[in-house]
Amino acid sequence: MKAPILSAGRLYCDLVFANTPRLPTFGTEVFAPGLSLHAGGGAFITGATLSALGHSVWQFSTLPARPFDSVALADLAAHGVVATATAAAGENVDPQVTVAIAHAGDRAFLTRADGPAIPDPASLDFAKFAHLHIGELSTLEEMPELLERARAANMTVSLDCGWQDSYAPNVGQLIAAIDVFLPNESEVAALSAIGIPENCAPLTVIKGGKTGARARTRTSDTWTYKSTTQVEVLDATGAGDAFNAGFLSCWLNKIPLEQCLTKGNEHGTAAVQAFGGASYLTQMETA
Ligand SMILES: Nc1ncnc2c1ncn2[C@@H]1O[C@H](COP(=O)(O)OP(=O)(O)OP(=O)(O)O)[C@@H](O)[C@H]1O
Ligand SMILES: [Mg+2]
Repeated sequence: MKAPILSAGRLYCDLVFANTPRLPTFGTEVFAPGLSLHAGGGAFITGATLSALGHSVWQFSTLPARPFDSVALADLAAHGVVATATAAAGENVDPQVTVAIAHAGDRAFLTRADGPAIPDPASLDFAKFAHLHIGELSTLEEMPELLERARAANMTVSLDCGWQDSYAPNVGQLIAAIDVFLPNESEVAALSAIGIPENCAPLTVIKGGKTGARARTRTSDTWTYKSTTQVEVLDATGAGDAFNAGFLSCWLNKIPLEQCLTKGNEHGTAAVQAFGGASYLTQMETA
């Protein structure tokens, strides 16, 4: 069996209020017809999708504080993701929760992120893993030691970006030191605005929503573009994370770049047609 993938990043408990008739306003109350609780965050969605694609995946995250830890652990188990390398939240840390209010085909989010995103990397033996995926750039900025440990263990490394209002001064060096960088178009524009070139990483894969995705290596002059199928969007949450898994599943098997993009699009496009980032997996043929 192949060495497992380590998926590191902030792990949330998502409280998703479905089909809300309107958004709440001050002084009023809105009753939602449905509520569901799920594990959330890029590292979880990408890891769960890679697991559905037949990879062995370990989650490397701090759990949301009680009582929401049990929701995250149940979802990890349901998706076949190993939870051994997760750690309980510290005392006095707020529960890491996202409230999502789904209304008229869109969602409003209210999130509390608190405490360290991941446990101390020294607590884990990296030697048994083949690949590290980091769910968001902010986690790498917070814990650059993660990259040092992965490199010392000869692991390959991929990194999603996620939206940030500001960046660490060494962000360019961090991105240059991983193998595959997977931002979306607006994240790459924000990085360009602070002088980080689009080809900073050895391989950059840029997700472009309904247009699909493009990729190029650091040394190539040209982008490889891959469009996707036009579909009706039910909920775009986590599409980028699902794309990552489709792409990486092929890339890790050394499949040509165009096919990696096609597989990424397949998963991203499937994800926008279902609520939540990982729920489409139960509906999709993953073979
Ligand atoms: N409207 C759409 N129609 C078809 N496919 C889509 C659509 N939107 C997104 N996708 C697919 O999902 C992929 C990722 O979407 P997107 O570019 O929105 O990523 P993202 O902004 O990182 O998403 P996330 O909200 O998960 O961070 C796209 O590359 C594409 O394959
Ligand atoms: Mg994204």
